[in-house]
Amino acid sequence: MMINAEKTQPLKKKTKALCFFVAEKSEEPFGLPKIDSKLLAAIKQSVKETKGKRGSLYIIHTHGLIPAEKIVLVGLGQTHKINHEALRASSGKIAKKITELEIREFSIVLPDKFPLKTDSAINAIVEGVSLSLYSFDKHKKEKNPVLQNLSILVSDEVKISHHVSKAKTVSESVNFARSIANLPPNECVPAHMAEFAKSLAAKNKLKCTILSKNELRQKGFGGITAVGQGSKNEPKLIILEYNGKKDESPTVLVGKAVTFDTGGISIKPAEKMDEMKFDKCGGCTVLGIMKAVSELKLPVNIVGIIPSVENMPSGESYRPGDIIKLYGGSTAEIHNTDAEGRLILSDALSYGIKTYKPKAILDFATLTGACIVALGANVAGFVSNNNNVVNKVKRSSDRTGEEVWQLPLNDDYMDMIKSDNADIKNVGTGRAAGAITAAAFLANAVGTVPWAHFDIAGTAWIQTGSKEKSYNPKGATGFGVRLVIDYLSS
Ligand code: BES
Ligand code: ZN
Ligand code: ZN
Repeated sequence: MMINAEKTQPLKKKTKALCFFVAEKSEEPFGLPKIDSKLLAAIKQSVKETKGKRGSLYIIHTHGLIPAEKIVLVGLGQTHKINHEALRASSGKIAKKITELEIREFSIVLPDKFPLKTDSAINAIVEGVSLSLYSFDKHKKEKNPVLQNLSILVSDEVKISHHVSKAKTVSESVNFARSIANLPPNECVPAHMAEFAKSLAAKNKLKCTILSKNELRQKGFGGITAVGQGSKNEPKLIILEYNGKKDESPTVLVGKAVTFDTGGISIKPAEKMDEMKFDKCGGCTVLGIMKAVSELKLPVNIVGIIPSVENMPSGESYRPGDIIKLYGGSTAEIHNTDAEGRLILSDALSYGIKTYKPKAILDFATLTGACIVALGANVAGFVSNNNNVVNKVKRSSDRTGEEVWQLPLNDDYMDMIKSDNADIKNVGTGRAAGAITAAAFLANAVGTVPWAHFDIAGTAWIQTGSKEKSYNPKGATGFGVRLVIDYLSS
């Protein structure tokens, strides 16, 4: 879809739909120019009726009184509560409505006098529109219609154009992450994840290394090989490197990519097991970030590490009771083969730290059901050992609307993963603090390197029965891509 910013008077714009934002209890939409009195009356009447409630939509036919065929009014809610999230969600609503009306082209008016700064408002509008239009129809005969053109009408297009293009790149990277995450588990096995990384690397000039099962075994990746040994789809470790700055230690990003999590020998119940195709979402987030970072040419060094396995029950599977040796050197006793994510992440984190001596390491994982119990499906769990990282993450979370909530980690939690027979065990004591004991297992691998862990079990896809947002349609959300791009840009 083409999105451009242009300096055109709204009433001169020939367009199928001219969209204005409205605040609650205001009489007129933002940026409404002097207009034909009949149209003005119709606009005022509809503003009265919808009251500018957040998410409300109203369509007025112009009957040739202006070049635009329709005027669309979109409510943003109470003036003092208008923020980027409201703008992103409302812009998504407009785009969905326009598609429904089988219109292919529309315009949005963003006046100077608006409660939010123009550059960040542009960002929210472009994200809301691009992200809401994503749909996973690869395997359907009937494809969704595609919108072709959006013009954002502003007062100074020169200053605005590069914000439009940055927001487009980031949104496309989120949609790229979604499109891999949504793939079915028979199609997207670890080798397939590796193919995506290779072709991204070839297109975007990244360095790509893939470690095979034998190499992983030789090099001592005990976690990845143990989890992967039950499946005929062999495990892979995917490494992508982007160099945007000379002589600086990189930020390492690690993403869990379990292409299907049956639980293994500690098998999961059948209900909703199909959703465990989304257990690769952390890895997909890292792929999305690598795409965006390289296309935006950010002046940073980034390494993406994606351990990818399929967790299956079979005669070759690892078992409860097994003791394995992790890449970092600790031994781990397996108490539940369904707690597989922390095993492959521990290997990847240790490898990232040893190989790249990073200034910070961030990981993304659909790690625990306990995180959903604690925080629900709209907020990711977040654990860190470093206050600078915490502050940066919180700021990026506020700016992007990708919500996180910090969970504590202290020695009491570290004690909960001590094992009688090995250094640590892969579950805590009982079910208490499940999201934190999982993080404690990872903390064992990172030591004092500045680290943030994101448990995206609730936020990585729209859970059955939970509410979708306009810009997060059904399926994978690509959670984390926008937050990390903001983090790396600031
Ligand atoms: N991939 C799951 C976590 C998960 C479950 C994410 C549901 C999203 C929705 C993870 O591998 C897992 O099964 N964790 C176990 C850990 C337990 C055995 C300690 C869990 O959360 O039940
Ligand atoms: Zn599991
Ligand atoms: Zn899992």
